[in-house]
Amino acid sequence: MAYSINLETCSKCRLCTEVCPSHVIGVNENKETYFIPERLSICLKCGQCMAVCQTGSITVDGLAYGRDLIDLPGVYPGYDQFVSLLSHRRSVRNYRKKPVPEEMVQQILETVSYAPFGASPEKMHVTVINNRERIEKSLPDIERFLDNIVKWINNPIASTMIRRKKGVETFNTVKNHLYPIALSGNYKLERGDRITRGAPVLMIFHAERGAEEHTSNAFIFATYVILAAQALGLGAAMNGIVPAAINKVKSLQEYFNIPENHEAVIAVIAGWPKYKYQKAIKRKHLHIHNFN
Ligand SMILES: Cc1cc2nc3c(=O)[nH]c(=O)nc-3n(C[C@H](O)[C@H](O)[C@H](O)COP(=O)(O)O)c2cc1C
Repeated sequence: MAYSINLETCSKCRLCTEVCPSHVIGVNENKETYFIPERLSICLKCGQCMAVCQTGSITVDGLAYGRDLIDLPGVYPGYDQFVSLLSHRRSVRNYRKKPVPEEMVQQILETVSYAPFGASPEKMHVTVINNRERIEKSLPDIERFLDNIVKWINNPIASTMIRRKKGVETFNTVKNHLYPIALSGNYKLERGDRITRGAPVLMIFHAERGAEEHTSNAFIFATYVILAAQALGLGAAMNGIVPAAINKVKSLQEYFNIPENHEAVIAVIAGWPKYKYQKAIKRKHLHIHNFN
């Protein structure tokens, strides 16, 4: 493994030892910083030591200055600009029939490289379908999955199985959120595409079942993606129905080429928004408990 500190250029400021989340860098009797060999196995490869170093003296295995550590942009949004981006964002469910250039999809996905992560972010995958026809072909299977939800929840044995196999959170989401939607028949394709909403782009975040922190990482990455889409003038929305259907319907998983041992966590739909919203929506999302 390639870990090194160039002692000829190191200024001995020790900031690297301060910021390392796993305390992998120590200081020896000669006041030189060094990677502690027995701690290398807990290095997160987060790159914080390299980012804080004023002389570019540190190498972490797999990371390189210039490629992975880049100069900070000169522009930096203040709080007001950040809130402005957030308040302009909407879950867009009405799209123009206009394709999204591949470069924009790349720009969107690139923002994920700046996201925080838990455990092993490299285990996260995203399957991108920038092709409306291909998305449309998946819809009948998703419709059938929604039809089946009614049967499963109405059947005590099937619903107990979902609860046992998928856990209480997923069970409650299916029973209290998806089941009423399924019962209403609102998603029926004869009414149009109320699943992927006519979006030209679908991004499915998935990882090997059981991969460390992959659920959390998927939601964080998907959040970056919807905000990046907003910043580019596109519209986007998270979609939980598509991944749920993929995880249950084998033909869908195969159709999207998602490995058999992977589970889909969340999807994002994106495209050019048809309508402009006039107001921001300020919700009381959080119960705040001050324990000062
Ligand atoms: C985990 C998650 C799953 C979601 N799944 C869907 C979905 O399947 N279909 C959909 O139309 N919107 C979905 N949404 C979008 C929410 O419904 C949306 O955020 C909510 O309606 C509030 O609207 P806003 O995003 O414009 O503030 C999902 C959002 C999250 C966070």
